[in-house]
Amino acid sequence: MTQIVVLPGSWRKGSFNHALARAAVELAPKPDSFALHSIRDVPLYDGDLEASTGVPAAVATLKDAVAAADGLLLVTPEYNNSLPGTLKNAIDWMSRPPKDSGRVFGGKPVGIIGATPGMGGTRLAQGAWLPVLRALGMQLWSGGSLYVSGAGKVFDADGALIDAKVRELLTNYLAGFAAFAAKSRS
Ligand code: FNR
Repeated sequence: MTQIVVLPGSWRKGSFNHALARAAVELAPKPDSFALHSIRDVPLYDGDLEASTGVPAAVATLKDAVAAADGLLLVTPEYNNSLPGTLKNAIDWMSRPPKDSGRVFGGKPVGIIGATPGMGGTRLAQGAWLPVLRALGMQLWSGGSLYVSGAGKVFDADGALIDAKVRELLTNYLAGFAAFAAKSRS
């Protein structure tokens, strides 16, 4: 079965992107085919730390999860018209050491979705990820897109995805991305 790592860029209580990531797990084309992971325990990148003790345990766990998966789904907030440094920091750590980056990211199918209470739906953040994904040698799925705007009305107070249209768009996105990842594996 196709396995996708779902990685949201926010872990705050009430995060719209974490809620969107949970909805992706719920609406995945096959039960348990999308797994939620967290960047919460990833420290700030520190070259001295890397030189002395290597990548931290939380980073090694994420690296192994992505390496074993058929694809990676980034669920990105947008900060100041660009990608969030928090999620970029985790990806940067995961690309270390360079000789191991290909095992984790090389040729790996990747999708990007995101949510914001604003109007732009994280378009600028999603666009800002593109050079990063190219640098990592990943395969972007561009057969669909999902830009969730007005997130305050799309999720309820418990973080459930209550907007029927967005549920349909997400379901379609996940099916398309999972098929792309499955094809890439075979
Ligand atoms: C934001 N936010 C934001 N939203 C947006 O649509 N475009 C933007 O450029 C920014 N810039 C921005 C900068 C910083 C530093 C913060 C903290 C926030 C608002 C952002 O979309 C909102 O806080 C979301 O709720 C963040 O995602 P989570 O935590 O809900 O997943």
